[in-house]
Amino acid sequence: MAKLKIVKIGDDTLRTVCRPVEKITPRVLQLLDDMTETMRAADGVGLAAPQVGILRRIVVIEVEEGNVLELINPKIIAFSGENEGLEGCLSLPGQWGLVKRPMHVTVRALNRYGETVEYTGSDLLARCFCHELDHLDGKLYPDVAHRMLTAEEIEELRG
Ligand code: NI
Repeated sequence: MAKLKIVKIGDDTLRTVCRPVEKITPRVLQLLDDMTETMRAADGVGLAAPQVGILRRIVVIEVEEGNVLELINPKIIAFSGENEGLEGCLSLPGQWGLVKRPMHVTVRALNRYGETVEYTGSDLLARCFCHELDHLDGKLYPDVAHRMLTAEEIEELRG
């Protein structure tokens, strides 16, 4: 495995709509492994391929430690409820925003074996599904945040 460089805001990669994966090649499997390593090294709970400069519809999520969800060509197939909470992004270090997301989200995707899988998540996992899938369409959370935290609020949060 190898740790990859995380692209930061300002890079066009983060604003590009990613293409679906057509075939799960050894390169895709390697990318999944490298993305998980990169996410863990950066202390993140989710990472999308465009964040490491790859314009493909691939996401890894680890909200529950040790349980990595690998999503290839993911789609949200159901959602319900509403949940406002803090959101950050490894591509926007030091920033936080308040974002309304559904409380429950179900995604359908392919796993690394090419099988169709479905996951339903609530709260943080639901938020993660929405945030990471947005990345695949070139969207970043400040686009949908109803408010970004001020420097003072971030200071308080750290304190
Ligand atoms: Ni992000």
